Amino acid sequence: MSRKRVAILISGGGSNMLSLVRDMADPEHPGAPCLVLSNNPDAGGLARARALGVPVATVDHRPHRGDRPAFEAKLTQVLADAGAEVICLAGFMRILTPGFINAWSGRMINIHPSILPLFPGLHTHARALEAGMTVHGCSVHEVTADLDAGPILGQAVVPILDGDTPERLAERVLGMEHRLYPAALRRFLTGERSRLALLG
Ligand code: GRF
Repeated sequence: MSRKRVAILISGGGSNMLSLVRDMADPEHPGAPCLVLSNNPDAGGLARARALGVPVATVDHRPHRGDRPAFEAKLTQVLADAGAEVICLAGFMRILTPGFINAWSGRMINIHPSILPLFPGLHTHARALEAGMTVHGCSVHEVTADLDAGPILGQAVVPILDGDTPERLAERVLGMEHRLYPAALRRFLTGERSRLALLG
């Protein structure tokens, strides 16, 4: 079976992108990375992807401030030129319009650093600590027009420890993200939809 062409969208360091690209080095993997695309030309993940031989591109959102459709039209063109069939959002920090999301319905997934539906949006680690949670984690979900609310493909859980700061908790969660996202992408590409839970 031909491997699905996977584009990974980043905005920063791309640690989740790296774990996905490394996992797809397995020739038996149902997907292969065709592009790493960033809205931020200075994203550290671009050099890391290039070093692994993955084609990279940037579509800077700043010239298109206030005109999301124009920004997304560029994204769409670059993705089409790369022959992308599936999108993995991995630390991508731009809000996408329902038009773009609908065009990729069933073909775009994201990783979010919380046990959804708890703590959608930003600053999830600080919010989990403030809420007095004893566990926290991350979720891989299909992207829908409702932010951080699409069908959940997999989740991973970590304990919150005494003295945890948002930074220490984020580091612990990130370690599980790097395990969860590759496993969830493999299953997503093969159509496997049974529950995936990793208990760290
Ligand atoms: C991580 O917290 C991830 O959950 C979120 O973006 C942050 C940075 O991810 N999606 P990465 O290191 O750039 O992959």
